[in-house]
Amino acid sequence: MNKPIQKHIDTTTMKDKDKNDDLRAFVLSLPKAELHLHIEGSLEPELLFELAQRNDIALPYVSVDALRAAYAFDDLQSFLDLYYAGAGVLITERDFYDMTIAYLRRAQADGVVHAEIMFDPQTHTARGIAMATVFAGMARAMREAQASLNISSYLILSFLRHLSEESAFTTLEAALPLREQYGDLWIAIGLDSAERGNPPEKFTRVFALCKELGFRLVAHAGEEGPASYVRNALDLLQVERIDHGVRSEEDPALMQRLITDQIPLTVCPLSNLKLGVVRNMAEHNLARMLRSGVMITINSDDPAYFGGYVADNYMVSAIGLGLNRDELIILAKNSIKASLLDDAQKNKYLAQF
Ligand code: ADE
Ligand code: ZN
Repeated sequence: MNKPIQKHIDTTTMKDKDKNDDLRAFVLSLPKAELHLHIEGSLEPELLFELAQRNDIALPYVSVDALRAAYAFDDLQSFLDLYYAGAGVLITERDFYDMTIAYLRRAQADGVVHAEIMFDPQTHTARGIAMATVFAGMARAMREAQASLNISSYLILSFLRHLSEESAFTTLEAALPLREQYGDLWIAIGLDSAERGNPPEKFTRVFALCKELGFRLVAHAGEEGPASYVRNALDLLQVERIDHGVRSEEDPALMQRLITDQIPLTVCPLSNLKLGVVRNMAEHNLARMLRSGVMITINSDDPAYFGGYVADNYMVSAIGLGLNRDELIILAKNSIKASLLDDAQKNKYLAQF
């Protein structure tokens, strides 16, 4: 019997492309949770155009390419202006379904087994869209994805911090009657939008009420805002996880606390790059924080706007910061551990490594 020829693959002589293909296959194979994803930020220009057409909404762009070309941002606010305008094409239950199922399919292709999806109801209710319409479309997609794609998901209702606390209370009040129908999916509250000048303490009372109501709590902090915003999100809002948090490094005592208490940070490298939070990937502090023991996770934030889904964010981190495979495994495991799943569900996913 002929013996098969043993091919020796020397990775040092593999072309960069082959090495990257190999690395990408490895990243895709890791079971991952995506913990920082704004569903409105997953609206790809193609779908955005399709929904505009379907709903007879005029867009100030002649083509999908022209719209994509406009995705060049100076900072968080310049992105938010486009992002809120883009969300204006979402009108019907079907629109919210289409957007959500498209994200879940794309995430599943990246090896995401569980997603915690933020949404900004105020962006929609301010345009006269009923809260029930927003929930119904997203929930239909999430339940379908659980059944047919085997991807679980939760909803994080996020308050817009550039609006008042009173508006957050009104939003909560409008959503609460839907908890009976969607309480298996909607389990958490978040805080997003323009950080500078809108500190966590602006929302202390509404977060206290949400805690009393039994919601899990997260908040964006330390993206553009200072480390003190991270501290105040923990102390005043009582959140259990910080979205971004990359500026925590400016406060060594806070860093020590993040390490000791294993408070997760949901870091979004491509977002940080595209919004000028860092000038280039080599400058990103996620590897340094990971190596010093912070519970870092990697996420995509607004993948349609920042040019990459979760696997792309792992890739850019691995290549730009020289993360090895053991570190990529730690990051993927962290994403499961830092999720809002119960211990039995976490253990089920962790057993897959
Ligand atoms: N909303 C959507 N993406 C955001 C981000 N990166 N920071 C704050 N608010 C957001
Ligand atoms: Zn975000």
